[in-house]
Amino acid sequence: MKIFRAVAISVLSLAAVTAAAQNFKPEDQIKHRQASMSLIARSNGALNSMVRGDVPFNKEVAGKHADVIANLAAWVGPSFGPGTDKGALTKADPKIWTEGDKWKAALDKLVTETGKLPAASADLATLTTQFAEVGKTCKFCHDNYRMRDFRY
Ligand code: HEC
Repeated sequence: MKIFRAVAISVLSLAAVTAAAQNFKPEDQIKHRQASMSLIARSNGALNSMVRGDVPFNKEVAGKHADVIANLAAWVGPSFGPGTDKGALTKADPKIWTEGDKWKAALDKLVTETGKLPAASADLATLTTQFAEVGKTCKFCHDNYRMRDFRY
């Protein structure tokens, strides 16, 4: 029951956030996606430390970071909505708004691979494998759609 309520609440707040993201002004959407990316990167860094052996593997902690990454990745897409190619300092490549299918594929890959992270966090070996897959999705998209410098 408690678990059900927690899931229901997180689904509701996810829906609210997604709806809100779609109503944001361009400037707010840009800040929103940058903040989401930063939080994803922070938890990614925590997992990286475990994968590298810099900190001992801890299933609970890894699972929490994996949840953060999977949840944020699942709704970062809407903050790259129409009309948000400019409006605040951004490194997003304008190609995002012209290469619809290729961009969507890169986004889908992020959602799919990060979605497998929570289950993979059960042990270090599966986490290590899945963490590498997630890393490829970050790299592919940044190589193609993130510019080196901020633009306005
Ligand atoms: C589908 C494409 C895509 C994927 C996949 C992706 N990113 Fe990004 N990321 C971007 C774009 C585009 C920006 C620039 C956003 C902007 O400045 O408006 C960005 C920005 C960032 C930033 C800088 C945020 C800031 O405050 O300026 C970090 C950190 C980051 N990404 C980390 C990650 C990590 C870690 C992953 C993988 C888990 C990842 N990203 C996956 C497209 C992607």
